[in-house]
Amino acid sequence: MPDTRTVRDYIRTIVDFPHEGILFRDVTTLFADPRGFRIAVDQLLHPSAGLRIDKVAGLEARGFIVGGAMAHQLSVGFVPIRKKGKLPGATISEAYQLEYGEAVMELHDDAIEPGERVLLVDDLLATGGTASAGINLLERLGAEVVGCAFIIDLPELGGRKVLEAKGMEVHALCAFEGL
Ligand code: PRP
Ligand code: MG
Repeated sequence: MPDTRTVRDYIRTIVDFPHEGILFRDVTTLFADPRGFRIAVDQLLHPSAGLRIDKVAGLEARGFIVGGAMAHQLSVGFVPIRKKGKLPGATISEAYQLEYGEAVMELHDDAIEPGERVLLVDDLLATGGTASAGINLLERLGAEVVGCAFIIDLPELGGRKVLEAKGMEVHALCAFEGL
């Protein structure tokens, strides 16, 4: 029998993490499975087939896991977009809203050459705040962000609309209703 499981089938839901009442969509079970990880990376790259991509940018932390594999597959470089204070060189930064308060993402100021075509990736799209900060950072360095790829979309939180309003191509492998 062929294995017909989809990416979504490999994602585990943890109830009440990190707070009571939250359903946490856990991609570690997807990453731990050899077939699951392979089909996730392949499908994240599908919309980019035939496009020129110069770099993959990954959002901390789980965007690093898939972004590294995607960059290797494309034979291009990988750049990390990290939480404040983690990158050692000179950085530019962008603040974004969290459920409670604000956070800051940073990018090395020499990570991108002006005009480079960059694919942005993360595990999950919720409100779109994190990805928007990443797009702003990349565009400030002169990147052309050719697409944003996510394993999971939480449509109730509206992130796709936020990114599409910025003119982005948004690609998600699956969606979960219920927060
Ligand atoms: C989660 C997720 C995305 C982000 C999406 O990361 O991994 O990066 O939230 O939310 P948004 O679309 O509302 O911005 P989190 O901030 O929990 O940090 P982590 O990846 O370091 O665990
Ligand atoms: Mg994250």
